[in-house]
Amino acid sequence: MFDLTGRIALVTGAGQGVGAGIALALAGGGAAVAVNDLHQARAVTTVGSIAAAGGRAAAVPFDVSDHDAVTAGFEEAARLLGPVDILVNNAGIPAAGFPQIPFKDTEPAFWRRFVDLNLYGMFNCTHVAVGSMCERGWGRIITISSEAARMGLDINVAIYGASKAGAIGLTRHLAVEVAPAGVTVNAISLGTMENVGGRWGDRIAAGIPRRRLGTGADAGAAVTFLASDEADWVTGQVLPVNGGSRA
Ligand SMILES: NC(=O)c1ccc[n+]([C@@H]2O[C@H](COP(=O)([O-])OP(=O)(O)OC[C@H]3O[C@@H](n4cnc5c(N)ncnc54)[C@H](O)[C@@H]3O)[C@@H](O)[C@H]2O)c1
Repeated sequence: MFDLTGRIALVTGAGQGVGAGIALALAGGGAAVAVNDLHQARAVTTVGSIAAAGGRAAAVPFDVSDHDAVTAGFEEAARLLGPVDILVNNAGIPAAGFPQIPFKDTEPAFWRRFVDLNLYGMFNCTHVAVGSMCERGWGRIITISSEAARMGLDINVAIYGASKAGAIGLTRHLAVEVAPAGVTVNAISLGTMENVGGRWGDRIAAGIPRRRLGTGADAGAAVTFLASDEADWVTGQVLPVNGGSRA
């Protein structure tokens, strides 16, 4: 089950955190993984972890919010590993940080970094990847969204949630467009992960039915399923991976 041998995956923002966990899981399933990050050193670190575990990977650093850079990055991935069969749009926390500010106190310049990364980043990578997938008759596009896209939260993340919800909109519509070509398009609505738990980790975990925060391996297992041949009839969906929390 879920054998990805022979597939080429590209995971954005995979130099640390959730993306690194996804890249390791896909490589563990047999895929060769193009590890993207804005920071080359982070991408190289994840490539080293995959190689140490016996997998195949290459670093392809680029900025997902720059369409020309994305085009060049996918060309580099194809040169190093082969054309991308599985795209995971994971990059999603702005490099400038993630201050939690009430919407009424934000400025348009603050909104733009979330739109550039979470919408344009996902649009760019999906746009560059999808044509070739359709021509080859097989493809998987999986976007890491958030529970903040599905429900209102009282933690001042309105713009983040709106940008993550926009990515779900593209997922649903594109899935219908490209299903006849053998390409599936899905999203994961991710709950709180251990890399952001910090000093509130225990308190947050206590409110999750499964009583723990999520890990990169949890995200990686869900992505591996959606990337598999077995998930061929699953498209246009948003899979909550959240320890049992309800919207
Ligand atoms: N951590 C959580 O609790 C949580 C919860 C729900 C959803 N998510 C989503 O999971 C994804 C990963 O989150 P994380 O916590 O691992 O984030 P992170 O900040 O730990 O890692 C993100 C990586 O993306 C890279 N990156 C940032 N901007 C980039 C760009 N323009 N181009 C390429 N790479 C870029 C960063 O350098 C970093 O290495 C995000 O989409 C996030 O919104 C996370």
